[in-house]
Amino acid sequence: MATLHYQQQNYLCQKDETVLDTLLNKNVDIAYGCRQGVCQSCMLRSIETPPAEAQVGLKENQKQQNYFLACRCKPESDLHIEPIKQSEFVHEVEVLAKRQLNHDTLLLRLSHSDDFHFKAGQFINLKTPDNIVRSYSISNPPNKNNQIDLHIRVLKNGRFSTWVHQDLKIGDKIPMSAALGDCFYTNDKPEQNLLLVGTGSGLAPLYGILQDALAQQHQGKIHLFHGSRNAEDLYLMDEIKQLVTQYDTLNYSPCLSGYYTDEHVNSYCKGRVHDVALSTYTDLNNWRVYLCGHPEMVKQMQTQVFLKGADMDDIFMDAFHLSSNLIENAS
Ligand SMILES: Cc1cc2nc3c(=O)[nH]c(=O)nc-3n(C[C@H](O)[C@H](O)[C@H](O)COP(=O)(O)OP(=O)(O)OC[C@H]3O[C@@H](n4cnc5c(N)ncnc54)[C@H](O)[C@@H]3O)c2cc1C
Ligand code: FES
Repeated sequence: MATLHYQQQNYLCQKDETVLDTLLNKNVDIAYGCRQGVCQSCMLRSIETPPAEAQVGLKENQKQQNYFLACRCKPESDLHIEPIKQSEFVHEVEVLAKRQLNHDTLLLRLSHSDDFHFKAGQFINLKTPDNIVRSYSISNPPNKNNQIDLHIRVLKNGRFSTWVHQDLKIGDKIPMSAALGDCFYTNDKPEQNLLLVGTGSGLAPLYGILQDALAQQHQGKIHLFHGSRNAEDLYLMDEIKQLVTQYDTLNYSPCLSGYYTDEHVNSYCKGRVHDVALSTYTDLNNWRVYLCGHPEMVKQMQTQVFLKGADMDDIFMDAFHLSSNLIENAS
């Protein structure tokens, strides 16, 4: 058991309890998102050196300043904690457009200032007026209009996604973090084949990576597998098919794991997206792989593509962990 000293109060942190859980259980108002050490929205700082596992994924200069992720921090001795001084939400974006991509997924177009820099496929954190923080992936490469596109799937009783779908209006301004994560295209090996596999709104980063790779004249083969349960859950099919007609190197396989009839045979692959992708390619030696969406799919697929020959350094992932740890509805 350790004592947390935070803003003139002391809190007892039980063995195996995270700093985030301790503070939330005591109704301390603290920002958080994924609870999985991914989104970095729960970052705090301590006077003492925090446990090493609470600093995984942070920059070296942040580690040296004792920054740590509260959701990954199970302290074994007392910690004096302070909020990080510089706000994570260094940008403000304006809502330019909202458009349904399918029955439950919305394209949210935001305009950003000149000092926001990103690569397609990275993610940002957004915050509601009630301090709810969530991560969303950027689905377009930088453009001269300073716009970013997000695909936001509404989850039943999901606090942030419902707020975006129902309450957020064109012209509203929202706080946004810097771009985070390493799930993006680089043109250092233009001849390498690219395997892109995603479920549901996991298409967002992949669509951005795909456009970026094509714009940078990637020479290797690119194969996008996008999976959902039913045909109406897929989206952007026409836009991607249009790209396929323009680029010989591009292949696209929409996959259905649920309702499938004879009518679907010519348009869709049958089965779970990762099973279809893995049965298409037996040898992934020297492939670069991007995996985005449902955390379980991402985890399973990472092991499988490694066993099929992909180098760990060539596997990039964005697992869409939910803050509640309840993932049965998500993809
Ligand atoms: C790096 C990263 C990138 C991401 N990119 C995207 C993206 O591009 N597009 C996208 O759509 N999502 C993305 N996500 C997921 C996103 O951040 C949110 O987690 C998601 O939108 C759900 O947030 P929410 O606030 O709407 O739902 P939450 O309020 O967090 O709820 C999530 C689910 O849990 C259920 N739930 C919540 N509390 C309870 C409870 N007490 N009892 C029972 N059920 C409960 C809700 O009904 C809901 O189904 C990403 C996540 C990460 C980590
Ligand atoms: S990294 Fe801690 S809540 Fe996301």
